Amino acid sequence: MSLINAHGITKVYRLGRVDVPALRGVDVQVEQGEYVAITGPSGSGKSTLMHILGCLDSPSDGEYHLDGADISALRGRALARIRNQKVGFVFQTFNLMPRMTIDENVALPLQYRGGFSRRERLKRARALLERLGLGDRIGHRPDELSGGERQRVAVARSLVGEPAMLLVDEPTGNLDSKAGAEVLRTFREVHNAGNTIVMVTHDMHVAAEAQRSIHIADGKIAA
Ligand SMILES: Nc1ncnc2c1ncn2[C@@H]1O[C@H](COP(=O)(O)OP(=O)(O)O)[C@@H](O)[C@H]1O
Ligand SMILES: [Mg+2]
Repeated sequence: MSLINAHGITKVYRLGRVDVPALRGVDVQVEQGEYVAITGPSGSGKSTLMHILGCLDSPSDGEYHLDGADISALRGRALARIRNQKVGFVFQTFNLMPRMTIDENVALPLQYRGGFSRRERLKRARALLERLGLGDRIGHRPDELSGGERQRVAVARSLVGEPAMLLVDEPTGNLDSKAGAEVLRTFREVHNAGNTIVMVTHDMHVAAEAQRSIHIADGKIAA
């Protein structure tokens, strides 16, 4: 069975009295271990689709199975629980906590999940930072790191809970080309280690990193 199995996904945002259709019947299938890019112009519905696939938001209509579980009917806490177990996120703006060290940042998802001692959380976080080549930055705060390093810390944080997949939205959007290349190399390593990655981007060079691309235009799959 596919890891992601989404059929006929629609999303309508209500703005006052106006309905804004953001997705108009999207089918997406992603297999375990795949590296897939979702591409399309600004406003085409990429982030909306990513939020639904990542259990941050619910579709207006359609069916969604993630890792065998029927997600379509879940809301609120039930949706949050699945999200916490199954999905690791990386966003364009890193979203690291500025007052915490990078190891504390990476450990945070395990704290939300519960069931791990602080010692165990930090041990796992530091092991991941070592693995991603950031061992010499342990104990530092985000503002002491370069942009590329900060995004790699965010990648470590997305992996710490051993999710079923990573959902990544414009990961190099705030980086210069050298730092962007560094981050893309990290995703390649993470994929080679067996992880599933779904990456939203409007940048064709970034999309070329993935094994295949799903193109969205005007809320529909175009190719
Ligand atoms: N929270 C929201 N409320 C109303 N409209 C929204 C909201 N989020 C996105 N939209 C609209 O939905 C469409 C798709 O947006 P989005 O998924 O952010 O596209 P992309 O990520 O491809 O730029 C756009 O027309 C956008 O203006
Ligand atoms: Mg977007």
